[in-house]
Amino acid sequence: MKKGFKLGKLILCSTILASSLAAASVSATVSDDYTAIWSRQQAEKVALTQQNTAPEVDMDFDLVAPDQWVWDTWPLQNRDGSLAIVKGYKVAFALVAPRSLGWGERHTHARIGMFFSKNGKDWTYAGIPYNYDKALGHMQWAGTAMLDENDKVHLFYTATSDMNANGGKEWNEDGWVQRAEQRIAKTTFDISADKDGVHLTNEGEHKLILQADGKYYETIQQFQSHGNIITAFRDPFFFQDPNTGKEYIIFEGQAGSNYSLKPENIGDEEYRKTHSVPERSEMYNGNIGIAEVLDHDITKLKLLPPLVESIGTNHQLERPHVVVNGDEYYLFTISHTFTYAPGLTGPDGVYGFYGKGGIRADYKPMNDSGLVIANPASKPYQAYSWMVLPNQQVISFINEPKDENGNVQFGGTFAATLKISLNGDKSAVVKEGKAGEIKPFGANR
Ligand code: FRU
Repeated sequence: MKKGFKLGKLILCSTILASSLAAASVSATVSDDYTAIWSRQQAEKVALTQQNTAPEVDMDFDLVAPDQWVWDTWPLQNRDGSLAIVKGYKVAFALVAPRSLGWGERHTHARIGMFFSKNGKDWTYAGIPYNYDKALGHMQWAGTAMLDENDKVHLFYTATSDMNANGGKEWNEDGWVQRAEQRIAKTTFDISADKDGVHLTNEGEHKLILQADGKYYETIQQFQSHGNIITAFRDPFFFQDPNTGKEYIIFEGQAGSNYSLKPENIGDEEYRKTHSVPERSEMYNGNIGIAEVLDHDITKLKLLPPLVESIGTNHQLERPHVVVNGDEYYLFTISHTFTYAPGLTGPDGVYGFYGKGGIRADYKPMNDSGLVIANPASKPYQAYSWMVLPNQQVISFINEPKDENGNVQFGGTFAATLKISLNGDKSAVVKEGKAGEIKPFGANR
């Protein structure tokens, strides 16, 4: 057991109007407050197959920023979701922490670093682009970044720490997991590029744009600590719906007040006859949250009911994000083995939900179970934090692969980019590219 904190080991509706619920491919119109369910019955089907298992990580990996641990990563995207290209440069952001700290300590020292690259393969680390004293939270966790039509970069992130004086900067590690309040924040920058690379300047004010409401989304006060479980209100993903032009922030949440484990969270009637739900399963209350953006500057938002919930199934639906293809909506999220509710299991991987007709849809788990990409059984923790981009490239970081002697090595660098194919609600891993490779991609359409 490693020393220090390790998020990796912590447990960091209404009526459907349409009649057909049977096939995942059937479009169903749902009401504005409909929350789709990932049930225990569906999650029980999670299994590694040739289509969903990632190739083994090559242990001869380079470090993209040799003095930093590097994990959750996201590219700078235009408002329409396409890859931003600034005077020939691609830009990526990632969580970073000094390698002088222990691997497990990185979460409580996380900041957001910037990288740039001309060819989308060789990345240069350009440091932390903001003034830490102005940023919100003791640590800054995952987010997304959007370049608007006036060349302003909007950096969305999670401000994490207990709500105390000094914007959360007064910090005490003791038992912090139980009081790790998370709020969603943003700042802005101007961007320029020259022969030396990409520069972010004119840092804007850091603003809180979303907080848990206690109704749809659990607050820190409602959070019932059990074991090493952590609450969640984090990982904002900016999304412009190509079909309506409406804008949203999608995020990881947990069910708020008065939630319960409903029969549908378990499964259908037939399944419920024989399935008994282990004690404490109802404490696993993950969801994928959504807020509508009300202004062009993305500072006014309205929380809406979650898109998907995994009450009784899984505690964490992390870093949710969306890929659209016509009227098909793919909602991807990452999750861990240890966040499954009692009696269920599945690999660290990326999971997907498929819906039709709009961002609020009757989402069904992809490939019947939800599993889209899994770490191989031989290296079950080799990578994490996959992000599926609009052209189905999938970026991630090297996490804790085992070497040839079976010893765990800490990665903390970009993993080889994967490519998946999407065919309706089915997917397959089809290709492996270079570490951190991001090829230009167009808008969601
Ligand atoms: C996923 C994650 C995110 C969070 C970050 C903290 O790897 O748990 O949900 O923002 O790591 O390090």
